[in-house]
Amino acid sequence: MKKNKWQYDELQQVGVDYGNYDEVARYDARMKKLRDIKTEINNLIQATSPTPDSIILEIGTGTGEFAVAIVEESQKLFAVDVSPVMLEYAKKKAEDRKIENIEFHHAGFLTYNGSSEQFDIIYTRLALHHLPDFWKSIALNRIYLSLKEGGKFYLKDVVYPSNVEDYDLFFNSIIEGIEKSVSSEFTQEFIDHIKKEYSTLDWIMEDLLTKAGFSILETKVENSFIYTYLCEKRIA
Ligand SMILES: C[S@@+](CC[C@H](N)C(=O)[O-])C[C@H]1O[C@@H](n2cnc3c(N)ncnc32)[C@H](O)[C@@H]1O
Repeated sequence: MKKNKWQYDELQQVGVDYGNYDEVARYDARMKKLRDIKTEINNLIQATSPTPDSIILEIGTGTGEFAVAIVEESQKLFAVDVSPVMLEYAKKKAEDRKIENIEFHHAGFLTYNGSSEQFDIIYTRLALHHLPDFWKSIALNRIYLSLKEGGKFYLKDVVYPSNVEDYDLFFNSIIEGIEKSVSSEFTQEFIDHIKKEYSTLDWIMEDLLTKAGFSILETKVENSFIYTYLCEKRIA
């Protein structure tokens, strides 16, 4: 997108911003404890079916844990993130593992300049909620244009179900669950997520995906607020 005066400044992050390398290293270690990363990687591979010819784009790569795994199944991966410190950490991880077919770019959903119909697969995990809904829609249109016909788009993010009668009860029970099973640090992160970040409702996300042109092949919901959408660019 041509940069307009009114364009949303995605480099100015909302929510938690990891300021230095050590904080990112702690975040990476914490994520490995909290999440079953191996299963998440397998699910991503199974859903998107990369081949040795695949050209892949990951938006919001974070510490690069997924990029360094998926690239082994593909020809080349472009990893973009708005956080220079996340990128530095992810680059070092790739170098340590002697991985040479990842290209890292300091950019985001609204500013990455991949050429059109370049990618076989685009995926993004826990990052799109950084944009308000209008800008999510711009981001999804750009993703659609960057995908080859038949290409897969895999989106995982915090999304809120719309069939909830009482959001006080809903959020409080999630917060209590996190407090009991995970940690107080993560509980505060989730509270800040609800207060400050732009997670949206499921029907809005589905509409945004469909209006961008995607066919939604599969929707999965974990713990009532982690949604995964497997989409395809189908041209009728
Ligand atoms: C919660 S982390 C998730 C990282 C990784 N995808 C994962 O699943 O572990 C969110 C990442 O999105 C990045 N991010 C925030 N806003 C972004 C934007 N507008 N475009 C691209 N990445 C963004 C952050 O810098 C951060 O690395």
